[in-house]
Amino acid sequence: MNAYVTGATVKQLREQRGLTQTELAERIGVSDKTVSKWETARGLPDVSLLQPLAQALGISVIELMNGEHIVNKNVSANLLRSKFHVCPVCGNVIHSTGGAVVSCCGITLPALEAEEADAAHAIRIEDVEDEKFITVAHPMTKEHYISFIAYVTGDRMQLVKLYPEGNAETRFQPRGFGMLYWYCNRHGLFKKKF
Ligand SMILES: [Fe+2]
Repeated sequence: MNAYVTGATVKQLREQRGLTQTELAERIGVSDKTVSKWETARGLPDVSLLQPLAQALGISVIELMNGEHIVNKNVSANLLRSKFHVCPVCGNVIHSTGGAVVSCCGITLPALEAEEADAAHAIRIEDVEDEKFITVAHPMTKEHYISFIAYVTGDRMQLVKLYPEGNAETRFQPRGFGMLYWYCNRHGLFKKKF
């Protein structure tokens, strides 16, 4: 993540849009020399220009600032491609069905990569009546805990928020092939076919 828009980002996006430096300059009311300076790291756009600049380049301000530009080809995204973003400052959990530039507490949050669980984060699945009882044998202290368990199928996502000093457990009604995700605040995201 960049702290501010970079010249390389401006150049790359301008070229992607098929604009010359002069054309971009005209759209935002600066000179072509100014744009050239930004692109060669001899100057930075004033903060008041970020909105017009982002608009001229066809992206959002947050994408411009991050130098990351996402266009999802699959507009009817499949939930099985779900991504989770967790804010390390406030614990906010953000779910997306495709790529996204996500920000919380001033931090750009990467899509978490889910791993197969190690022994310390193993999940147990038991049949209880017509439901599946899910347990993670894991500490639930304020410092180290499982903060959510989610069950995702092609058309539905259920997320159960867990809290320190509670139990790392929940129940789900099985709905065919899907994925279980659970998140440890220290060790990250885990997954298992379910
Ligand atoms: Fe952990």
